[in-house]
Amino acid sequence: MTGTLDPVVGKPIDRVDGNAKTTGGARFTAEYPYPNLAHAALVHSTIARGRIVSVDTTAATAVPGVIAVLTHHNAPPMKPASKASRLNLSTLVSGTSVNFLNTDQVHWNGQPVAVVVAESGEAARAAARLVRVGYRPSESVVDFATAQRDAKPQPGNALMPSGAKKGDAEAALAAAAVSVDLRFTTPPLNHNAIEPHATTAAWDGDRLTVHETTQSIDWLRSHLALRFAVPRANIRIVAPYVGGGFGGKGSVWPGTLLAVLAARATGRPVRLSLTREAVYRTVGGRTPSVQRVALGADSNGKLSALVHTSVSYVGRVGGTGEPVTSQSRHLYAADTMLLRQDIVEMDLIPNTFMRAPGEAIGTFGLEAAVDELAYRLGLDPIELRMRNEPAVSPVDGHKFSHRLLREVYALGADRFGWANRSPRPGSMRDGRWLVGMGVATAYHPAMRFTADVTVRLSADGSVLVRCGFHEMGMGAATAQAQIAADALGVPFEAVRVAYGDSDLPAAPMAGGSIQTATAAGSVLAASEKLKRRLRSLARRHGTDGVHHAETLVRAGLPAIEAAVGSGTRLGRLASQARLMSTIMRDRRWARAACGAQFCEVRVDPDTGEVRVTRWTGVFDIGRVVNPKTAASQMRGGIVMGIGMALAEETLVDPRTGRIMNPGLAGYHLPVHADIPPIDVAFLDDPDPTMPLGIVGAGEVSITGVAAAVANAVHHATGRRIHDLPITLDKVM
Ligand code: MOS
Repeated sequence: MTGTLDPVVGKPIDRVDGNAKTTGGARFTAEYPYPNLAHAALVHSTIARGRIVSVDTTAATAVPGVIAVLTHHNAPPMKPASKASRLNLSTLVSGTSVNFLNTDQVHWNGQPVAVVVAESGEAARAAARLVRVGYRPSESVVDFATAQRDAKPQPGNALMPSGAKKGDAEAALAAAAVSVDLRFTTPPLNHNAIEPHATTAAWDGDRLTVHETTQSIDWLRSHLALRFAVPRANIRIVAPYVGGGFGGKGSVWPGTLLAVLAARATGRPVRLSLTREAVYRTVGGRTPSVQRVALGADSNGKLSALVHTSVSYVGRVGGTGEPVTSQSRHLYAADTMLLRQDIVEMDLIPNTFMRAPGEAIGTFGLEAAVDELAYRLGLDPIELRMRNEPAVSPVDGHKFSHRLLREVYALGADRFGWANRSPRPGSMRDGRWLVGMGVATAYHPAMRFTADVTVRLSADGSVLVRCGFHEMGMGAATAQAQIAADALGVPFEAVRVAYGDSDLPAAPMAGGSIQTATAAGSVLAASEKLKRRLRSLARRHGTDGVHHAETLVRAGLPAIEAAVGSGTRLGRLASQARLMSTIMRDRRWARAACGAQFCEVRVDPDTGEVRVTRWTGVFDIGRVVNPKTAASQMRGGIVMGIGMALAEETLVDPRTGRIMNPGLAGYHLPVHADIPPIDVAFLDDPDPTMPLGIVGAGEVSITGVAAAVANAVHHATGRRIHDLPITLDKVM
């Protein structure tokens, strides 16, 4: 192989797993056959908080095929999550602190209180409905509308600062020539991955194999080691394909723990494949939010004050504060700023990070308020943004690693035809439809973690990259194969990437849009090591140093391998130290993916129906490894954003804390007919501070979408909707 091949990074290469996924060849968690496999189903609590006082399993046990009904009376012990150190990732990755089936305490409506194991899934689910549980309820806080009054400031951390203050924003707001002061609300949202959560668990003595729908193989492995008191080395997690994650498969939820527990209790391999309803009841979603966004400006639109405050909830037994004001730290050069995030603890299933936590809903408030301010000023909303484009990050003065918001707006306006928009609301029509065009900024911070990787070159010229990262449908393996091919100067077809298995070198969670840059950093480093070895072999054996396979043949080596990171315990500690220093070092930059979302809607003036009819999204995600898979990811994110804007809403009974629409019949998502062709473009400008200039894609595409839709609806109708989702009753 020669080093003179055309680079493949930047080429729209088809996904290597595309055929397997579209022809049914890809095997998902709930599809692994096991001899003697048993099936489990969950029994969910029907109260929000209290104690279990009685369990009657007689009828359930009598169902033909039932093997066991596990409750807190007879379940094997499991170690509590809360005992571990706060800094331990295996604790952080826990969705809740509840020690399921080892306690009689109930912490949310829907918490698993029993598990039925049977010869078939049907028998298990039928029997689960027959388990009778008696409760003694206690006081619970389940109504966000009233609970939000007790919200307290949310503590920040190294990755996600919570508040910020610069000058006296309230005074500047009061003195501003032009201002807006708006209140926005967003509802709770739930995960609806195409593949519902599932676990297949098999014990062999004290060795455990788990097939799992996870976007966090390594942390799940550590967590199961902790909970079931076996060494990490005894646990194998297998997850080659994941049918969507988006945050919902990042933490460890009760279904996973209880499948492993049930397998231990029954001595059988156990599969727990959650029903859609069970996903709602046992996997946390997104907190609702109340946001205040107040902006003050002089008559030229120069911002003198930016206030963004939010209230959201966490569970009393887990959850992470939603970083609602994250984007507001970086987007506008306001003279004064006040950012605050408050949280209240509730007796609901703990929330989790979901589809751009923070920015997805935070950009709704901020970018709709900016649009409103533009109207008050009589300025074009893009022009208003450009007049407030900061030179450095406005809160802390950190340098932007690179910032191309002007460029994404210029390209987006051109592709979308923004110049054809007549600014006055209600002034554009298409027959009976009111036409509206709206725009909003997309923003998502860029992080990278560290990953362990091996790269092996064989004498037949083939390359094997091994890294336990996750393929949730984004084309991760394809992108890393492109990167390795260029790094080693071999054809793309010569590279195979192994992923999705804890037997491989460990990678961090696929979350926070970190995976591509994180894995790329290690693939590049391992490739460099490998090339150094090749060069010294070439010198020793008198080859040209270009034809790698020939060098190996001459050296009499079947293969050589280079590794980054290490599977040893010491290596793991070194990896964690490297991770911390990477995070701390990266803090001096304000680094992000950004974009401009352009939306066109048609609104029916009689019914209030909103149709999204055109979309352009232009993004700066640093270097684009594969424009085909990246654009596809952006389209997916925009669809999620449109769902959030127009349809999605989890309905929680304010008396009982029970989710009332736990399924696709009652929780509405956009379907194909709701989505127009989506035009996506990239600047493809490498970030100088990231491996290969990759910033990370994915979540940025969800951000700004709801605001762009709301702004377009306002342009079409003159109605500004402050409350998601924008359903027709609100438009009328
Ligand atoms: Mo994502 S919400 O970090 O999976």
